[in-house]
Amino acid sequence: MTSAGATTAPHVPVLVSQVIAALALAEGDTAVDGTFGAGGYTRAMLAAGAGRVIGFDRDPDAIEAGGSLVPNHYIQEGRLTLIEERFSQMDRVLAERGIGLVDAIALDIGVSSMQLDRAERGFSFQADGPLDMRMSRSGLTAAEFLNSADEAEIARVLRDYGEEPRARAIARAIVAARPVERTAELAAIVRRAAGFRPGQKADPATRTFQAIRIHLNAELDELEQGLEAAERALKPGGRLAVVTFHSLEDRIVKRFLRERSGGTPAGSRHRPALVDPNEPTFERVAKPVSPTERELAVNPRARSARLRSAVRTSAPARKEHRQ
Ligand SMILES: C[S@@+](CC[C@H](N)C(=O)[O-])C[C@H]1O[C@@H](n2cnc3c(N)ncnc32)[C@H](O)[C@@H]1O
Repeated sequence: MTSAGATTAPHVPVLVSQVIAALALAEGDTAVDGTFGAGGYTRAMLAAGAGRVIGFDRDPDAIEAGGSLVPNHYIQEGRLTLIEERFSQMDRVLAERGIGLVDAIALDIGVSSMQLDRAERGFSFQADGPLDMRMSRSGLTAAEFLNSADEAEIARVLRDYGEEPRARAIARAIVAARPVERTAELAAIVRRAAGFRPGQKADPATRTFQAIRIHLNAELDELEQGLEAAERALKPGGRLAVVTFHSLEDRIVKRFLRERSGGTPAGSRHRPALVDPNEPTFERVAKPVSPTERELAVNPRARSARLRSAVRTSAPARKEHRQ
């Protein structure tokens, strides 16, 4: 939710009132917070009348901290269940626990301030730390990736997930400097390779850190599979609200909702319109919502945040591959 250059700050939930409005919770509804983080959305859902919230996060630290972040009485009343799992698995986990279909689902894509602020997690270059960047604390670390991948693969990641115009030069500089172990070291290599001068507005290290993080955590695949899982987990009439932080993610949500609501590309004189044989699984797709100037004054890093929302129809979920 913030850039890799973030400094220590409490987690400010982004677009929270707009998300709550889109979720239109009725008293007693069961809701899923697919990205629990510091619990900002969950608290707002409970305050808005949700009877029960199931919070997912793939980060064990977020789940552990969640117990104390959300006031205990919620847990004692059985109103909050926290689950360490990827949101792409939500429908399976909900079914296994006998919870069934839910009334509302929110996803707030990206990293939390909690993750960025802990130097030892390696997401930020503001304070030096080991190059880790694993949300779930398992799998390949950023250092293992950078010290073993070839130059072309590193360049591809920087281009595809960081939209980095100097991807090749940065990848070459990383390979030449190996082994790279610390976040400050990587930031310095990137700045040198990208010709960064102090005082320049955008620090190119931000793009490289974002790209490596998205790659290691397979964040775009997770988002695609998470949207499909939400389609399977929502009841007819259930509401989905998704907040993204950059255009790569927003494009995935936009395309998914357009496709699932029956919006296929229009035909032309030369190309007949595509006919989608599937019934729409979502309707009432809302226009994207951006933060207000007031919200940006308090939380300037929310500038690129976008909320998209829609309502589930009664059509059966599409059959998709799952991992
Ligand atoms: C932007 S933060 C969410 C902040 C939260 N809305 C709040 O108000 O505190 C994103 C959180 O989602 C988690 N996350 C990212 N991808 C995930 C996934 N595929 N499955 C589950 N959790 C995920 C991250 O670990 C992080 O804690």
